[in-house]
Amino acid sequence: MPYVLSPLPFARNALTPQISAETLEYHHGKHHQAYVDKTNELATSNGLGGQSLVDLIGVAGPGALFNNACQLWNHNFLWQSLSPDTQQPSGELADLISAGFGSTEALLKDLGEQAAGHFGSGWAWLMLDQGALTITTSHDGETPAAHKGMQPLLAVDVWEHAYYIDYRNARPRYLDAVLDHHLNWDFAALNLDGAGVSRGDQAWQDS
Ligand SMILES: [Fe+2]
Repeated sequence: MPYVLSPLPFARNALTPQISAETLEYHHGKHHQAYVDKTNELATSNGLGGQSLVDLIGVAGPGALFNNACQLWNHNFLWQSLSPDTQQPSGELADLISAGFGSTEALLKDLGEQAAGHFGSGWAWLMLDQGALTITTSHDGETPAAHKGMQPLLAVDVWEHAYYIDYRNARPRYLDAVLDHHLNWDFAALNLDGAGVSRGDQAWQDS
């Protein structure tokens, strides 16, 4: 298949008890897989196959292909944004957090509030903007990969499929659990090089 489902970078039960294996079975195995399949189908039928995912996002135009391709990229990036182990920011990232938010706790409070308050399906992002950290949210599949020069560091999924099995409608409880225990600060630090968009990209594989 042209685009393939990227394997999870950890076992399905690696985020328990905050995120169950059942959630990942559906979130990765069903939802992410569906974005792969739909992107492949629509890219092929629209004659837009043969290019990288980020290039496809750039030329897809509004509609189902763009939405599915963005969600494919978002989930490629999401799994790397999560860590089985509880991490703490260090080095340059810790310095940027201190400069921008005062403390990691303050950053997480802001991130959690923006994610919890986001209306409907979407994403919360920790981004690097002109050398400073910033938090933003996006609706539906809207993605930093669609905007040249955006520098995503971490993704937080606030679609209901990310938490409904474990938390039902209690999005803030899901966010508290994930933000406190499973953010991959090492991945965020890696993305300070400005190449975060490339880390959700994937090649089109001719079969
Ligand atoms: Fe998702």
